[in-house]
Amino acid sequence: MTSTALLYLTVIALLITVAASDTPATGYTNHTVGGPAGWFFDAKNNISATSYSSWAGNQTFNLGDYLIFNTNTNQTVIQTYNETTFNSCTADDASDDDTFQYNGGSNEFGQKATIAVPLTMMGSNYFFSDAEDGVQCQQGMAFEISVKRGLGLPPSLNQPPPPPYIEPPGPDTAQPPPITINGGSPALDNGVSRTVANVCFPLTALLMAIASVWM
Ligand SMILES: *[C@@H]1O[C@H](CO)[C@@H](O)[C@H](O)[C@H]1NC(C)=O
Ligand SMILES: *[C@@H]1O[C@H](CO)[C@@H](O)[C@H](O)[C@H]1NC(C)=O
Ligand SMILES: *[C@@H]1O[C@H](CO)[C@@H](O)[C@H](O)[C@H]1NC(C)=O
Ligand SMILES: *[C@@H]1O[C@H](CO)[C@@H](O)[C@H](O)[C@H]1NC(C)=O
Ligand SMILES: *[C@@H]1O[C@H](CO)[C@@H](O)[C@H](O)[C@H]1NC(C)=O
Repeated sequence: MTSTALLYLTVIALLITVAASDTPATGYTNHTVGGPAGWFFDAKNNISATSYSSWAGNQTFNLGDYLIFNTNTNQTVIQTYNETTFNSCTADDASDDDTFQYNGGSNEFGQKATIAVPLTMMGSNYFFSDAEDGVQCQQGMAFEISVKRGLGLPPSLNQPPPPPYIEPPGPDTAQPPPITINGGSPALDNGVSRTVANVCFPLTALLMAIASVWM
């Protein structure tokens, strides 16, 4: 076999591997953050329980997937779409529009918590723990993921707020507002024309009745 043919086969093999690893999503995945290590800070050694960025780098995240944080209340879970907030390791100055804090429902230290965070926005999503004034984040409790479309959001997560009410265009909307002429008396005018109509109607009916008798 020539070296050219060998190179050719190697390239084909590589292409197949790339294609196989890029298979489209067939369902929604729950990703347990940190794997068996969970979402913990090792206070004794002043470092995160595992490398969350390498954990995150090893998998594909799609819309509708969940991140499952197995943790306790000594850590926090902050999700942000704002890179500045992420890099600052604090949510103090963050906007409610792009940053969300999930808590385990307890204010006490060391309470077991399982926090499920749905992925609902494509692109960069950032997660960190802001506990201990940002030290946990600075010491490894922070990671970025890139969320792909996958199958798109499932109906359970795909409930945008209803669009704002807009009055449908009607015949009235295009017309200028009615003009009231000072001194006039529209009520009287209407009353007069109604009176005329009321008189005219029986007269017309009578004429038609007479006509029908004659024909
Ligand atoms: C994934 O997590 C969500 C939220 O906790 C849960 O509702 C769903 O059943 C889980 N799905 C699977 C396949 O475990
Ligand atoms: C842990 O690391 C941070 C950041 O490097 C440092 O500021 C802090 O003093 C350390 N804490 C302990 C207990 O060593
Ligand atoms: C990445 O994922 C593969 C396949 O699931 C696994 O064998 C490997 O140990 C993982 N690597 C890391 C660093 O987690
Ligand atoms: C990110 O957050 C910071 C601090 O709240 C804010 O000043 C900045 O405008 C935000 N960036 C974007 C792109 O929204
Ligand atoms: C949680 O933090 C508190 C206060 O720093 C500490 O006393 C406690 O041992 C921690 N608990 C766990 C389970 O890490």
